[in-house]
Amino acid sequence: MSSTYGDEIRGKRMVFETEVHTCVSFYLLFHTFSHIQLRLGLTGSSNVQGEDVKKLDVLANDIFKNALVASGKCCFLVSEEDERVMVIEDPSFRGKYIVTFDPLDGSSNIDCGVSIGTIFGIFKVHDDHAPGSKDIIRSGRDLVAAGYCMYGSYVELIVSVGTGLHGFTLDPAIGEFILTHPSVPMMSFYLLCIFFPKLAHSTKQIRIPSRGKIYSINEGNYKYFDEPTKKYVDSVKTKYSARYVGSMVADVHRTVLYGEMIVFYTTVDVKTFLEHGLGQAVDNFHESLMIFICIFGYPADSKVILSTTFVDIVPYLFPRSKNGKLRILYEVFPMAYLVEQAGGRASTGKQDALDITPRHIHDRSGVWLGSADDVADLEAFYRA
Ligand code: AHG
Ligand code: MN
Ligand code: MN
Ligand code: MN
Repeated sequence: MSSTYGDEIRGKRMVFETEVHTCVSFYLLFHTFSHIQLRLGLTGSSNVQGEDVKKLDVLANDIFKNALVASGKCCFLVSEEDERVMVIEDPSFRGKYIVTFDPLDGSSNIDCGVSIGTIFGIFKVHDDHAPGSKDIIRSGRDLVAAGYCMYGSYVELIVSVGTGLHGFTLDPAIGEFILTHPSVPMMSFYLLCIFFPKLAHSTKQIRIPSRGKIYSINEGNYKYFDEPTKKYVDSVKTKYSARYVGSMVADVHRTVLYGEMIVFYTTVDVKTFLEHGLGQAVDNFHESLMIFICIFGYPADSKVILSTTFVDIVPYLFPRSKNGKLRILYEVFPMAYLVEQAGGRASTGKQDALDITPRHIHDRSGVWLGSADDVADLEAFYRA
């Protein structure tokens, strides 16, 4: 084959291969995109909350319900997306836990790729023999575990079983969640574990120091806030930065993590360490290295919204947020539990959020959570 002819064939093949590659990559791109597209957008129905339900809300709800039933550990499931409690009747799948969950939190952010997540709380039945509504409609102080998983620029599972917070990050390369959030900076953590192996067992907690520099609230509702909330927001906006994602999981995750030390080196106060032992030295870390901490709030407000029933012909007004927007059993309680486990506080402004007892499974409450001193400042406006 003459060189020119050969070059020509080679050239054509090059073009052909490029075209094939291009077509294949467009196909893959389109396929992926359409696959995502299938998951994005609205279902066209609304849920018991009066919200437009997203396709991913439904998908997430089905996935979690199937997994929780298959676990054989649960007797009742309470989901944001289901009007009623799901009772697990089959004795071979029935367990002694109640799981309250928000399968997909921050749904309004799905289609624009902003962080969303899943929130869950776990209660144990009072009495194995006769579980009933008293096992579901109860104080947040009865929680035995809670957690959230945030799907953002990385996937992070934050969970507590009552012994502080533990943070696990998904390593997509191996498909496993790795413990990544001890409460001291990684470098110092490893260095210290060389000298003080016990440290590895005492700092698997994320701690929220007492005061911070960020406040997080939807100021678009300002005109609906009650006076104490307005006064508090006015008092912090001159000294703190504002951050608000609109996904509770993302806003709380920032609150919890920025409460953690984010300095990538530190020196252990050896004198304290030797005198007072490990715990004091670790506490000293927090005090000496506290940088950020946030307060996140979704207070009750007087905002009234039009809500249409699923047949869309009977719009009716109801005061959505006179009790706050966030749902007690599967948003407020789990996040309040986690923030308290991290050394922070969660309050309605008038009482600890965990001390509320909801009136029904989708009951709502206003809530402030984060740095203990910042939450105390907020509460002072309610007492004034
Ligand atoms: P969900 O998407 O599960 O219905 O929850 C949305 C909640 C919560 O994620 C967030 O903090 C809050 O709604 C945001 O409300 P606004 O858009 O009114 O600020
Ligand atoms: Mn919702
Ligand atoms: Mn939610
Ligand atoms: Mn949700």
